Amino acid sequence: MTVADTVTGIGAGATARAIELDNTYVAHNYSPLPVVATSARGAWITDVEGRRYLDCLAAYSAVNFGHHNDEIIATAHRQLDALTLVSRAFHADQLGPFAAALAELCAKEMVLPMNSGAEAVESGIKVARKWGADVKGVPAGMANIIVADNNFHGRTISIVSFSSDPSARGGFGPFTPGFRSVPFGDADAVAAAIDEHTVAVLVEPIQGEAGIIVPPDGYLPRLRELCTERNVLLIADEIQAGLARTGRTFACDHWDVVPDVYLLGKALGGGVVPLSAVVADRDVLGVLNPGEHGSTFGGNPLAAAIGHTVVGMLQRGEFQTRSAELGLHLHARLRALVGHGVLAVRGLGLWAGVDIDPDLGTGKTLSKALAERGVLVKDTHGSTLRFAPPLVITGAEIDWAVDQFASVLAQAGS
Ligand SMILES: Cc1ncc(COP(=O)(O)O)c(C=O)c1O
Repeated sequence: MTVADTVTGIGAGATARAIELDNTYVAHNYSPLPVVATSARGAWITDVEGRRYLDCLAAYSAVNFGHHNDEIIATAHRQLDALTLVSRAFHADQLGPFAAALAELCAKEMVLPMNSGAEAVESGIKVARKWGADVKGVPAGMANIIVADNNFHGRTISIVSFSSDPSARGGFGPFTPGFRSVPFGDADAVAAAIDEHTVAVLVEPIQGEAGIIVPPDGYLPRLRELCTERNVLLIADEIQAGLARTGRTFACDHWDVVPDVYLLGKALGGGVVPLSAVVADRDVLGVLNPGEHGSTFGGNPLAAAIGHTVVGMLQRGEFQTRSAELGLHLHARLRALVGHGVLAVRGLGLWAGVDIDPDLGTGKTLSKALAERGVLVKDTHGSTLRFAPPLVITGAEIDWAVDQFASVLAQAGS
């Protein structure tokens, strides 16, 4: 199929019935576009009525390697037929090799396997607090962690406790204490917030949900220096930014910064299973003893086998190169729309936040119009659209998606 062979309209028949079922029986904690996916290959999703859409969200970076990636699916089939779950009550043969490969990719010594991204963040917080108590000597209950304003690290109570988004917090209190939020990109504010009880600085190296916000160049290197000087762990949440999305294995690589702790998720599970991890050296992750932390599904053989294949693909480097090269093309094409309905374009690699002139409509109305033309993107924060296609997308597909975007903007402005 070609890029032109795509949708003509959305909303009737099987689509309407599926949406009605969802709306009746599924909690309304999302507000999806009216597209009902049923299969997908590479960068393309097919809906229940046979229409095809170019996926420019990639499940928030969980599908970095494309839908139904042959290598990942072959591993999944093989492992499904062998062993899927024993819990960590026993050893299983897939976990050790996966952890060794992931540790090597991160140039760290140990891996704590979990499932969702939020669990990796929660686990990172627990590890940092335990490290503070056992290694740094912070008195019980006194630890604090510095975070950045407008962060997004997930949806659990502790994580929303340090969110600055009112809709993430409203009605969900009481909240977990022990966090201090300072402006993103301001290393001096971090320096001022650190005290003798600070155990960690937790940041997204590029803020994703906030609108793909790239910090000033000196920010992450300065955080690295500060954390080393003040004996504080630097924790990089690379759950959305990492694993080739920005054109490097980790977003921190753009600034040659090595955090003490990597938090990974999303693409680690190859778009097939939830798989997340905390990765750090032995002097940090070694603070956990049996019984102090765990997860029934964390590190299960199916996820470990898939994660091992994903790490192997990242070790080859081809997805990082694709994202870097095609990212330049995507950004150049999107920047050409500044002044034609676009106010600003940010990001790195195949990851772009595009601010739209609010007079043309909300991010939501424009994403709907784009879906009508066969391109799936996600709005974030009012009038920002996020382009984050699977890294298998081609240059011609990017051109086609941006052409559709330009037409939608032109139509909205007419
Ligand atoms: C940077 C970051 N951290 C953590 C999470 C939470 O991941 P999950 O939805 O798998 O819990 C997300 C999800 O979007 C994220 O973008």
